[in-house]
Amino acid sequence: MATKKTDKTNTSKQTTEKSLGRPVGSSDPIGKSVKSAGKVTVSTSAKVKDTPTKTTHEKAPLTDAVKGKVGDFKFNAENLKKAKYQTAKYPDGKKSAVMALLDIAQRQNNGWLSKDAIEYVAQYMDMAPIRVHEVATFYEMYNTEPVGENVVWVCRTTPCWLRGSDDVLDACKKNMKIGVGETTKDGKFTLREMECLGACVNAPILWVGDDYYEDVDAKDTDHIINELRKGKRPAVGSLKGRTCAAPIGYTPKEAKVK
Ligand code: FES
Repeated sequence: MATKKTDKTNTSKQTTEKSLGRPVGSSDPIGKSVKSAGKVTVSTSAKVKDTPTKTTHEKAPLTDAVKGKVGDFKFNAENLKKAKYQTAKYPDGKKSAVMALLDIAQRQNNGWLSKDAIEYVAQYMDMAPIRVHEVATFYEMYNTEPVGENVVWVCRTTPCWLRGSDDVLDACKKNMKIGVGETTKDGKFTLREMECLGACVNAPILWVGDDYYEDVDAKDTDHIINELRKGKRPAVGSLKGRTCAAPIGYTPKEAKVK
């Protein structure tokens, strides 16, 4: 019986391969079915469909099960306006604005992205939640767990290290009384290390919120943290009076023009 079945299969396979213009007996990479020239042939049953295979790359609409459920988070009225403004910038509709919308969500959610916040953004943008989770967990500027009111990043890469980032980090630890990756008990600070912040010319760099403090030393660091603790924002940029990235003590002519 087994032999008969094999014979039938071979016959139908030969028929199929002839119809596809292949040498008879050539191996079928898929095994049971062959797709070619818009036709699907099932070799085990010799059925040949003449209707074209559906090869479209259209995306099926996301089902509710894929989209997941959104919890309590949703944009407030002001952030809904911001979200609309961001999405309107892109011709493909909303998806390209995913990073901007995650940033808006993070600011609304006390500086971090909860699962609810990420999945709200996914639903708002009609994206699968996993796609938005991928973005949120890839980039350092998104926090996926609660953080302090001020997230203080110390750059530790070579230029900053050569210019004293060890002292800056020690000053942070001493003042905040926490280690790297920790948050103070009063919720004021989270301390983190970062690789090159892209401002090496004014190293060492301390990054807080949307601002860079440049040319910092241990004393400056202490002052900045004390001011932040009081809810103040010390002046940002070079703490050595540098104009942009010009040498200390030199003000380019362009900078003097008002
Ligand atoms: S090494 Fe610190 S900003 Fe580049």
